[in-house]
Amino acid sequence: MTAEEFVRRLDASNQRLLEALAPDDTLKPEVEGDLNVVNLLKVALKNEIEATEIAARWLVGTDDVDVKLAFARQVGDEAKHYRLIVERLRGLGVDATRIDPLAKGYGPLFKYLDSLATTVERVAAGQFTREAIAVVKNRQFIEFCEHAGDRETATLYRDVIEPDERYHHELGRKLLLRLATTPDAQAAAAAAAGKTLELAEELQRAALAGAGIHHAPGC
Ligand SMILES: [Fe+2]
Ligand SMILES: [Fe+2]
Repeated sequence: MTAEEFVRRLDASNQRLLEALAPDDTLKPEVEGDLNVVNLLKVALKNEIEATEIAARWLVGTDDVDVKLAFARQVGDEAKHYRLIVERLRGLGVDATRIDPLAKGYGPLFKYLDSLATTVERVAAGQFTREAIAVVKNRQFIEFCEHAGDRETATLYRDVIEPDERYHHELGRKLLLRLATTPDAQAAAAAAAGKTLELAEELQRAALAGAGIHHAPGC
């Protein structure tokens, strides 16, 4: 199939699976115990630093200038998100400069993404799919912040972070249209996207079972 047809199909199947990540609309998130904006922002720090680093690794791993620039843009944005979250945590009374988000090592999704060897897989998994997941998760987090009465964090996500993540997803779409042109490339891209969604779902299940977290922000 053409790259256009492939990307259209991948988008549709991603969106179908992403609905499984969306919580029940009637769910009323409650802030209790450990589940609060501060702790969810700490989860976000880890996501953002991992997103920064994987894009940086991929930036140096390609000779394709368009791809380099797409990853460079992403590195800058994800690092900016990290800084903005640190600043927001400071506003909430937490000194996040004392937090090492990688103290427990890299997560399973980072390790999987780091294992991908080709640009088409990286773009399909790390940009097109992971960033689509981030958009869904951030929408949930914005709602959570509003329920918790934290309009400042909600505004940060709505006005700055979420539009950036959407842009990263669109960068992925543009590159896929150029790269996913052969049956082999399309099969590899689809497999990498599928595995990314599977890992995201697994991580969400684990977070839900362990800490009742169902709306940690993505990156
Ligand atoms: Fe992103
Ligand atoms: Fe981000």
